[in-house]
Amino acid sequence: MTVIGAGNVGATLAQLIVQSGLSDVVLYDIVEGMPQGKALDMMEAAPLWDVSVGVRGTNDLKDTAGSGIVVITAGAARKPGMSRDDLLNINAGVVRTVSEGIAEHSPDSIVIVVTNPMDVMAQLCRVTTGFQAQRVMGMGGVLDAARFRTFVAEELGVSPQDVDALVLGGHGDQMVPMPRYTTVRGVPVTDLLPAGKIESLIERTRNGGAEIVSLLKTGSAYYAPAASAFQMVRAVLLDEKRLLPAAAGLSGEYGVDGLYVGVPVVLGSGGVERIIELELQGDERKFFEASVQAVRGLTEKIGLDGA
Ligand code: NAI
Ligand code: 2OP
Repeated sequence: MTVIGAGNVGATLAQLIVQSGLSDVVLYDIVEGMPQGKALDMMEAAPLWDVSVGVRGTNDLKDTAGSGIVVITAGAARKPGMSRDDLLNINAGVVRTVSEGIAEHSPDSIVIVVTNPMDVMAQLCRVTTGFQAQRVMGMGGVLDAARFRTFVAEELGVSPQDVDALVLGGHGDQMVPMPRYTTVRGVPVTDLLPAGKIESLIERTRNGGAEIVSLLKTGSAYYAPAASAFQMVRAVLLDEKRLLPAAAGLSGEYGVDGLYVGVPVVLGSGGVERIIELELQGDERKFFEASVQAVRGLTEKIGLDGA
C-alpha cells in the first residue's frame, strides 16, 4: 500500500502500519530525501518491532504502482488562525495532481483521503481518478468520534474503550456529533450526563482540531488522525466489515445527491461496501443539513460538480 505525503500524519500512519506488521508501505513525498530518510529510520526500527514488513521512501509516483490501498495525506496543514477551509485552494491543486498519479499507477486501488478540507478533497479525488464512489472515501468521522469518546470518557471517569460515539456530516466546524448514538457499553450518554454538559463536550469536539493547533502552533494534530486512518486501512486490508463513520459519495442517501459527506458506512475489501442510513430527528437533521450546505459551498468554490 501507499501513503502519499510523508509529513506528520503520513509518516505516523506509515509507522503504525509497519509497527503492526499489517503491510509493506511505499511512502511518497515531493520533498527530496525526506520520505527516504523516514523510511530508512523505520526500517532500522523493524528488528526492534519484530516485524517483517518493509517501508520504502520515494519521490517518484511510479514506485507506488500497483498499490491496493492509497492514503492521501499530502498538502498543507492548518496554522493557528487558519480554518480547514482556508486550505481549500492550496490542497485542491495537490490532491488533483496526486489523484491523477493514483489513477495512472494504481488504477485498481481503494483511496482514503485525509487532506483537508477532507470531504471536498475526497470528492475531488473521486472525480479526478474516475474511480467508483465505493473506492474513494475520506477520513474524518473516526477522528471526530474518537475525540468525542475521549471527552465523554474523561467526564465520566470511564475507559475510552467503553465509549462508542458517532459523528456525522462534514469534517468541519459544523460536524454533527450524535449524542443519541453515543453510549457507554450500551448505556446512552443522555442517561449519564446532563444535556448542558453533553453540549459542552460536543462543542469541544467541534473545536477539537483547532484546540490542538492552538497548542502546537506550528501544525495540526497527527497522532489521533493517523490512528484513525490506520483503523480504516486495517478494515479495508483485512476485510473487517467495520461500521465506521467516513466521508462517502452520496447519491440520494440522507436526501443528498452528488456530494461527499460523513455518514456511517461498512468498510471492507470493496471499500465503502454499504452506506447505513439513519432516520435523523429534529435538530440532528437541521445540523446535518447545515453541514452538508457548508461542504457544498466549498465544492462550488473549486467548481466541483457531482460526486
Ligand atoms: P504536514 O505538513 O506535516 O505534511 C504534509 C506533507 O505533504 C509534507 O511533507 C509535504 O511535503 C507533502 N506534500 C505537499 N505537496 C505534495 C505533493 N504534491 N505530493 C506529495 N506530497 C506533498 O501536514 P500533516 O499534519 O501531515 O497534514 C496533512 C494533511 O492532512 C493536511 O491537509 C491536514 O489538514 C490534513 N489533516 C486531516 C485530518 C482529517 O481528519 N481529515 C486530520 C489531520 C490532518
Ligand atoms: C483535525 O481535525 C486539522 O482536520 C484536522 O485535527
